This record gives sequence, C-alpha cells and structure tokens, in this order.
Amino acid sequence: MTTDFVPFQLERLLSTWERQIEYNLSESGVHPMTMRELVQDAAQIEALVDTELNYPQANGDPLLRERIAALYKGATADNVLVTVGAIQANFTSLLTLTDPGDDIAVMQPNYQQFWGLAQNLGRRLSTFGLKRERGWALDRDELATAMKPSTKLVTVVNPNNPTGRIMPADEREAIVTAAAQVGAWLLADEVYAGAERLTDEFTPSMYGDYDKVLAVNSMSKAYGLPGLRIGWVVGPADVIEQMWAWQDYITICTTMLGNRLAAVALSPEVRPRILARTRRYVRRGFENVERWAAARTDVEIMPPDAAAICFVKYRRKINSTELVMRLIREKSAFVAPGDLFGLDGYLRISFGLPDDYVNEGLRRLGELLDEVG
Ligand SMILES: Cc1ncc(COP(=O)(O)O)c(C=O)c1O
Repeated sequence: MTTDFVPFQLERLLSTWERQIEYNLSESGVHPMTMRELVQDAAQIEALVDTELNYPQANGDPLLRERIAALYKGATADNVLVTVGAIQANFTSLLTLTDPGDDIAVMQPNYQQFWGLAQNLGRRLSTFGLKRERGWALDRDELATAMKPSTKLVTVVNPNNPTGRIMPADEREAIVTAAAQVGAWLLADEVYAGAERLTDEFTPSMYGDYDKVLAVNSMSKAYGLPGLRIGWVVGPADVIEQMWAWQDYITICTTMLGNRLAAVALSPEVRPRILARTRRYVRRGFENVERWAAARTDVEIMPPDAAAICFVKYRRKINSTELVMRLIREKSAFVAPGDLFGLDGYLRISFGLPDDYVNEGLRRLGELLDEVG
C-alpha cells in the first residue's frame, strides 16, 4: 500500500463507531428487516431450513437473476451479475471498464467510493457538482468541463447520496448525452431507488437510456436488507461476462442464503410489501427531522425526494467531522459528517428508524449544537 493511499473515511468511521454508540443516525438505509418479517410463508421457511449451504451458482442464482432482470426493461438473466453488495458491483465495474491512467468523471457530492478508488487505482479523476442553491440540480457547466474526449467512465448516484435528490429527465438526458459524445460508459448507482418519499413510483433505472449503461443496485437500502450482502449490476451481456471474470478472483460468489433470501424479497408477492414498509419509514422519519429543524435557527434542511437521509446545513463554526466526533464522545449519538461527501458545514442525518430513536438522536445533536455555540 502506498503512502498516498486514500482511505474510505466514511465507511471506516461508520464501522468503527456504529456498534458502540446509543443513537446511530449515520446509516443511509431504513431500519433493517428481521428474517421473521421477510419470510412469512411456511413452505418458504421449510425450503430455507433445508437449503444446503453450498456455493450458489457463482454469477448469481438463476431465479434471483431472473427476478432482478424483470425489474429492468429489456434485460434477461444474462445481463445480470450478482455481487457482494452494490459496493462490489461498483468496484468490479471500475476494474472492468477502465485501466490505470484512464479518465473518469464522478458526481459530487457523492458516496466516497469512486472518488477514493479512482485515486487508489491510478485512474484520473474529474468531478462535476450538484448545486445546492438550485435544489441540488446538476451543474451542466461543470459536467462539460469534467468530460474529456478521453473520458472512459461517468458515474452518478440516482437518487443521490447524500442529498436524496432524484434527477429529473432533462438532467439524465444531459448526462447520457455527455457520455455518448465521447463514447464513455455510464454507471448509475441506483441503490436508493424504491425509497421514494413523495411518490410510489419506483425511480426509473438509467439502464437502457444508452447502450453503454451499467445499472447497480442492492438489497441494502430500499429493501432494508444490508446484512444479506447482495447487490447486482445490470449491463450488456459481454461486459457482465467480463465482470464475472474479475469476480472469480475477488469473491468467487456471494452466499447461498443471501441468494435465496434476496429471491424471496424480490418475488412479486413480497417485494411490494417491503417497498411499502420502506416508504413508511422514509415518510414518517422525515417528519421528525422537519419538526426538529423547524424548532431551530442553526440548521437548514432541503427535503429529500428519496432515501432515508437528509443533508442538513448547520450554522456553527466547527468542521463537520470534528462536530461528529464530539457527538459520538459526548452524546453517544452519531450522524455522518458532510466533509466526507466533499462538503463541509453539512451533516447527513438518517431518519428511516423508529420515531423515538430518531427523536432522541436529534435531541442529542441539538444539545451539542447549542453547546458548540
Ligand atoms: C451510493 C451507494 N452505493 C453503494 C453503497 C454500498 O451499499 P451495499 O451495502 O449494497 O454494498 C452505498 C452505501 O451506503 C451507497 O450509499
């Protein structure tokens, strides 16, 4: 490892503290489901108990890949690779589609994965922004500057982490056009699709918007099943085949139980029930944040379109990581610091959790903000 290795600071901060504090509002999914909530059919329970804990089909159980493919217009199981979470789908996409020295363009603010990986793997990184003063709209000038004739890959997160914004059709089109002009691949990380706050319409995938799109999703966020560690990537069959070749070296495959349980979750009988549960958490949870913010003068919120997270601007002269470290140590509560998404002066607050839990976490954060002065 080189001395200029860029650590995944957000994930390391979460991994270090999330099991040690009392009120954790740092995650981005909704309250995880139990096995009992997920599997309610007696025959399904029997089948699961009798499952041999062998390796599954290495690129993903056929039934699961069929169920995933059915969620994407024009896709078949050959267009799907099942991965260890969206995080491995993203990682393997970068390895497959780019070489060291290649240019990649990444949306910012964003989950830190591509930003850090690109640097660690010797890719050349450009970023393009979302503008807060315009409701986190895409900055088209920055997109134009970030795109070079040599750009191999453009990555977006839609709905966005940390802002929760869903890109409107004209912005999607602008990104597709920018990628198509230079023949770049477009990777759409869509892990928050299904966690919409204002509509029951599942955010449409960018898969199919252009012939060089990879769409990534997982069971972790909108399905409330992060512990299954099941994600996937959907793309042209030949690229999916190449990604599988990398996966042979990285993980071989995911787990048998993860595949079986994910297939249950994505079945036509169970999936609507899970998404309704997720949206209940997102809608109820945000009301708690709204009430808390309305009673304060030092925070400003911009309501998210989707995801159980809100990117909150605070008016205190303290760095966001420093503030969060004090929150952990002095209040046993935890939110994610904005600087780890490329924007200091913000906190990402998770609210897809039971009301009492969210409210007490927010109360402690408010208490600390008062003390910081
Ligand atoms: C945008 C985004 N992509 C990927 C991931 C990783 O998710 P998974 O649990 O599916 O690996 C996260 C987790 O926070 C995320 O926010």
